[in-house]
Amino acid sequence: MALHRLLEMEIGVPDPARLDDFYREIGFTGGHGSWGAADQPGQIKVVEAPYRQLRSVRLGCEHEADLAATAARLDGLGVKYQSGGGRLKVTDPINAWDLVVEPAAPFDVSPQPVRAMNRPGERNRLGARAEVVTEATPRPPRRLGHLVVGTPKPVETIRFFTEGIGYRVSDTIGGGIAAFLRCSPDHHNMLVAPGAVPYLNHYALEHDDFDAVMRAATLYLRAHGDEANLAGPGRHQIGGNIFWYMLDPSGNIFEYFADMDRIVDDEAWVPRDDWDPSDSWSIWGDKDQPEVFFQPADMQQIIDGWARAHS
Ligand SMILES: [Fe+2]
Repeated sequence: MALHRLLEMEIGVPDPARLDDFYREIGFTGGHGSWGAADQPGQIKVVEAPYRQLRSVRLGCEHEADLAATAARLDGLGVKYQSGGGRLKVTDPINAWDLVVEPAAPFDVSPQPVRAMNRPGERNRLGARAEVVTEATPRPPRRLGHLVVGTPKPVETIRFFTEGIGYRVSDTIGGGIAAFLRCSPDHHNMLVAPGAVPYLNHYALEHDDFDAVMRAATLYLRAHGDEANLAGPGRHQIGGNIFWYMLDPSGNIFEYFADMDRIVDDEAWVPRDDWDPSDSWSIWGDKDQPEVFFQPADMQQIIDGWARAHS
């Protein structure tokens, strides 16, 4: 496995200061446009931009030799890149996102105590109140786990990300019109799906467990009202993760998730495309993905902004 970590994303929004307040509120550390969990500070960078957008993604590979392999693959696709100083930088020729690949040490978030639970045949919480009830402060999100992007050329974009950058395909939808891609053992670190113009559909922050997702989402929605609620809770069929989607103050959709499929043997994993449409969005909870998911309120601003920047 050459790529093994999602190191960072940089997003652009018209008013970055609002996201400083947001990330502080949800329990991230940092400041002034650089935020993350205690384990991985600075995993989210925010800069000022005329419209809401994904700007760059930084990925960790195992060895310096992986950069040469990436360069050879990009040569094969006829895509120009810059290589030197121990990293490779390439601008996605379709969507104008910058990708940076560099060697990085293996890392997963530090484990936190598993909450004791009671279930039939296995009573582990004896004489003690539930930890989610007694915890002094809610458990914060642990890291940035994945991004979902829209693009007018999903098939070409999937090819660039897999054959060029080195992401692996975990599952697909619609015969490959959308693909869940991984650059780590996570089932997906990137989902490429159709969109009117290149845009960030959502980013997802991992929590320790079901209770942590539910409590953090509940606190956020109590503070920001139902208008910040988008979809959830539920459990995706594809990726298997618990989810809850909300809006951050910049209009980005963010997801709290937990318990995603983990792929450690690339050869043994068999990608699927044969999803039952009756519950491909969620195995329980709401049946269908809300339409607003694909048509965020600021979509026209993004379309106009893309046209201005790239015409
Ligand atoms: Fe997601």
